[in-house]
Parts: sequence; C-alpha cells; structure tokens
Amino acid sequence: KINHYRLWYGASLATASRVRKDDVIYTTLPLYHSAALMVGLHGCIMTGATLVLRNKFSASQFWDDCRKYNVTVIQYIGELLRYLCNSPQKPNDRVHKVRMAMGNGLRGDVWREFIRRFGDISIYEFYASTEGNIGFMNYTRKIGAVGRVNYLQKKVITYELIKYDVEKDEPVRDGNGYCIRVPKGEVGLLICRITQLTPFSGYAGGSTQTEKKKLRDVFKKGDLYFNSGDLLVIDHENFIYFHDRVGDTFRWKGENVATTEVADIVGLVDFVQEVNVYGVSVPGHEGRIGMASVKMQENHEFDGKKLFNHVVDYLPSYARPRFLRIQDTIEITGTFKHRKVTLVEEGFNPAVIKDALYFLDDKAEMYVPMTEDIYNAINDKTLKL
Ligand SMILES: *[C@@H]1O[C@H](CO)[C@@H](O)[C@H](O)[C@H]1NC(C)=O
Ligand SMILES: *[C@@H]1O[C@H](CO)[C@@H](O)[C@H](O)[C@H]1NC(C)=O
Repeated sequence: KINHYRLWYGASLATASRVRKDDVIYTTLPLYHSAALMVGLHGCIMTGATLVLRNKFSASQFWDDCRKYNVTVIQYIGELLRYLCNSPQKPNDRVHKVRMAMGNGLRGDVWREFIRRFGDISIYEFYASTEGNIGFMNYTRKIGAVGRVNYLQKKVITYELIKYDVEKDEPVRDGNGYCIRVPKGEVGLLICRITQLTPFSGYAGGSTQTEKKKLRDVFKKGDLYFNSGDLLVIDHENFIYFHDRVGDTFRWKGENVATTEVADIVGLVDFVQEVNVYGVSVPGHEGRIGMASVKMQENHEFDGKKLFNHVVDYLPSYARPRFLRIQDTIEITGTFKHRKVTLVEEGFNPAVIKDALYFLDDKAEMYVPMTEDIYNAINDKTLKL
C-alpha cells in the first residue's frame, strides 16, 4: 500500500542524496518499480529537477543519452551498472556531466570498475524496500557498504540483525522463545520495529502476505517487528553491508553460502563476464550444493584449470560452485536482478540441460565437462560430493 507518507519517504531519498533543482535525472528503470517511480519521478517533482525517461534501458545508448540531455544524475538498480561496465570501452567514456548515481544492489567490484572507467561519479548506494520500514544510505565513500550505523537514526528507529536459520527458513529462537541478536561481523536477518514513526502499511488485498512479514514476540512478549527478508552484516567499524536475500542463501554441509559473495569471487576470473550463483538439490543430501551460471567474456575460452585454482584460492570448499553452466545470456527480472528459480529447478542433469555443463573435479583439480557417468555416479553416491 503506497500511501502519501510512503511516497514522501521514497521521494526524500532524492533530497537526502542532494539532488538539486538544476539537476537532470536520467531514468531507464521501469516506472512500476519504486526506484523509478518514488525516488526518480517523485524525487524529481519534490526537488524541482528535470527527468529524462527512456522506455527501455540500453547499455550502448546510455552515455550518448547522458551527453545529449546534459544528464547529471543517473539511477540504477541491480545489475544495471555492470552492463555499462561490460560494454566496449570508448574514448569518450568520461565525457559527460554525470556527477552522481543513486540506487541499490551495486556490488563492490562493479562499483570500483565503474568509477575507474567513467570518472569520479559519487555513488549514493542505499538500502530500502517498497514496503519496508527501514532504509540505509551510504554517507561515506566506503565501497560496497549500504550505510553506516547512525547514532541519530538508531535513537528513533529500532532495527536489529538477528540469527536466522537458513534451513528452516525462520529466525532462531532461544530457550525462552526469543530472537537472538548477532554480534558485529556476523550475518543476520534485518528486522525493524513497527511503530508510528516506522509503520508497515502492508500489502493491498493480502492480509496473509502482510501477516507473514510481521515478526511477533521478538525480544519480549507482544513486541512487533517488520521482517525485511534480507541478510545484512554490520562490521566492526559500523559499516552496513547487504549480504543476500534469505531465499537465495543456501546451506551446504552445515554452512550458509551467500550467492552474492560466491558470484563476486567467480566474477573476478578474466573469462567470466557475468555470473549467477544458486544452490541445487542433490538426491540423498541435505541442503543444496552450489552451482553457477556463467556468461563468457567475448573472445575468451573457458579454462577449467584456471577457474578451479581461483575458487580454491578464494572460497572454502563448501562454497565452491560444484557445477557450472555456460549461458549466452543470463536472465534478469524487470528490475535487473538475476532470475534463479528456473535454474534451480533445472539442476545439473546433462540430459536435460543443453548448455555446456562442467563439474568441479577435486581429483583432476579442474572443472571438467559434465557427463552422464558423473551424473549417475552422483546419484548412486559412488561419487562423493
Ligand atoms: C546542454 O548543455 C549545452 C551547453 O551548456 C547546451 O548548449 C545545450 O542546449 C544543452 N542541451 C539540452 C538538451 O538542454
Ligand atoms: C555516498 O558516497 C558518495 C561517494 O561514493 C559520497 O560522495 C556521498 O556523499 C555519500 N552519500 C551521502 C549521503 O553522504
């Protein structure tokens, strides 16, 4: 339910980012999504800025548009800036008037590359959701962070990171039935108390959906919190980082695997252009094992040895993608997030998947082509995972 308060709150992100009257905001995001509608369009009305709309994002046209319309502020979500970084370099990459980018979902590697390539653009990365009652905004130049614990915000808004059981898909409760705060540096589910100042107006027509997002008896009987469904970390310097969506993180060998973290690591290999990480079920095993869908960098060859060495160097064994699938395009949602559901369902059966499929072979110390034999050996449990 988007009431006036919520719209005002969303639009105020534009003022908080110091969008000015003389700014020109460029939005290529769908207007049904709050980033474009609430922050972009209403933020523009609120600040008196100018809005340039394009009905479909185009990586190749992006900077030409910015130059043509004297754009000073761009909006992004999800993988959008990655696509700009992946487009071929041009001599005029830094010729534009863009001074600021505002949005969310920017990964650290893209953040760095974006600034290196397109110039010193201030990144206003924020964390917020359409229906949520809590948001953060970076007020530092800390790459990758969505914000920092702010003394004033903390005084009026009660939010916490609590222990979450990925397997059961619910918060961990102690002997008295109460939730447990995680210490600094540990991953926890973000929850925020529902109060008059931080209301949760719920979903239109969906009282069960609304109820599902409410967490009751959290730290004492009768208290009420909004469950963000997002896992975050607060480090020892109080910087706040987005970790993963609760549904995306999976469990393997008793450990939680954050898909975003694995994707960041695999994405560093030179022949990988884009990567989508998810967990797939294996018959007879608890949890899910890691799998990655990879889009290859143009004019590069897949190198199973190199990738193996890289993941072994950077990832603990439970987090290494055991299966890999090469795709021509990585499917995204209308809001520039990777689609995972179909991939999870399709699993790793070479008889079903027509894409090139690889298997992390510990003995051979490389990714080898996936075969029917390997597949059967996994199912018969003659091959141990
Ligand atoms: C962009 O700025 C230039 C120079 O300041 C000006 O000549 C041009 O008319 C502007 N373009 C638009 C679309 O406002
Ligand atoms: C967010 O970070 C950028 C640097 O990337 C900085 O210029 C900006 O001031 C920060 N935002 C806020 C609200 O302080």
